[in-house]
Amino acid sequence: MSGAIAGSGVALVFDCMGSLLTVDHDTPSKGVVEAARRALLTPDGACANAFLSSVCDAIYVHVPFCRHRCHYCDFFTIAGRDDARSAYVDALLQEAQRTLEGLPMREPTLFVGGGTPTYLPGVDLDRLLRGLRTSMAVEPVEWTVEANPETVDAHIADVLCGAGVTRVSLGMQSAQPKLLQALERQHDPQSVPRAVSHLRHAGLTSLSLDLIFGIPGQTLEQVEADLDAALALEPVHLSVYGLVYEPGTPLRRRRDKGLVLQVDESLEADMYTCVQGRLAAAGFEQYEISNWALPGQRCRHNEVYWTNGNWWPLGPAAAGHVRGLRWRNVPRLGAWLDADGCSPTTDIEHVDLDGQLGESLMLGLRLLRGVPRALVDAACATPLRGANRARAIERHIQAGLVRWSADSLALTQEGLLLGDVVIGDLL
Ligand SMILES: C[S@@+](CC[C@H](N)C(=O)[O-])C[C@H]1O[C@@H](n2cnc3c(N)ncnc32)[C@H](O)[C@@H]1O
Ligand code: SF4
Repeated sequence: MSGAIAGSGVALVFDCMGSLLTVDHDTPSKGVVEAARRALLTPDGACANAFLSSVCDAIYVHVPFCRHRCHYCDFFTIAGRDDARSAYVDALLQEAQRTLEGLPMREPTLFVGGGTPTYLPGVDLDRLLRGLRTSMAVEPVEWTVEANPETVDAHIADVLCGAGVTRVSLGMQSAQPKLLQALERQHDPQSVPRAVSHLRHAGLTSLSLDLIFGIPGQTLEQVEADLDAALALEPVHLSVYGLVYEPGTPLRRRRDKGLVLQVDESLEADMYTCVQGRLAAAGFEQYEISNWALPGQRCRHNEVYWTNGNWWPLGPAAAGHVRGLRWRNVPRLGAWLDADGCSPTTDIEHVDLDGQLGESLMLGLRLLRGVPRALVDAACATPLRGANRARAIERHIQAGLVRWSADSLALTQEGLLLGDVVIGDLL
């Protein structure tokens, strides 16, 4: 099987195994992915089927609504457009129907994130979840929905569990009212156990909690107290992020003007070490820089990202990846709604094999188990960037930031503390 799909300036060329070889970048505004998607919708071409035949380990759905935009957050999310939530669900279901029904999937995970999916009115959330499930030919092996504590009442919990959601990721962030205020969160600490109790009552067993450390004004004792409060709720998974001062956010501007005092670097490192110690003592395995799980409870969906797998995006601003082809649905609600379920795409990039190996190396190093030697060797043997990668790895080994363990290259404890700095060198 080899050939090309062509149409209005778009050409996707495939090799005999169905791998995408080239993309004609002279694309019309709707982009390359529309061509693949259209070809899939009218499955008359063997090439299109080849492109999509061994794909999709995961589906990501972006729900772009929040009650309030927290000042540290740079995700695509909108406050003040509650009127558009129902139309959003209509358009999302159209997009899901057009895309998912013919999309071959292999034990797919489904992740509905945001934004705040549970900020949709119950009736719309129910329509969204049931419609998504109907559009998927295969039952998801893991189905996660992100939720904010103040939005989960008994009804929303029933909607989630009734639709078949298997995992909820709840944005707890902290158990201290002052720190929640510092983050501009809209919930008080009591709303977290309340939400958990509603979810458990509705039948949910797999609960993940998100915490943030390094919040302005936070002490080491408060980090410990936050961990204790989270563990008391008996989650099976925890994501614990250091606060990032993302460019363009109000929090970053406040810090740059001296209105917010960033936690000192060494205290932040102590906080991270404290998180690691406390969660290990509670029986959690750290499997990624910011993620811990009880045995058998890792987030399979995020593992698809970290192993450079294939996932299909739905919803405005959602990004996807299929065999080196990366793209994003437009991050504009109006344009996405107007597209009747066939979103215009942006940031289309076909990463060549050399780049794909670099990405796999970078992403894989986030995992504590590291990157298999065969992949490291392949990434260091490419004519273009291989030698640079090999030198960077050697430098990081000498500096004690990465090391060989069994037959894998992994971050050391010092490397975990520096995370992105080490990893960024290896692309
Ligand atoms: C984008 S949110 C979506 C889920 C939900 N709305 C919530 O806030 O929990 C996913 C996670 O990313 C975290 N997050 C967003 N921006 C962050 C930042 N700048 N630094 C650290 N964590 C951040 C959030 O706090 C949350 O736990
Ligand atoms: S609620 Fe979550 S998605 Fe919404 S602004 Fe806050 S952190 Fe971002």
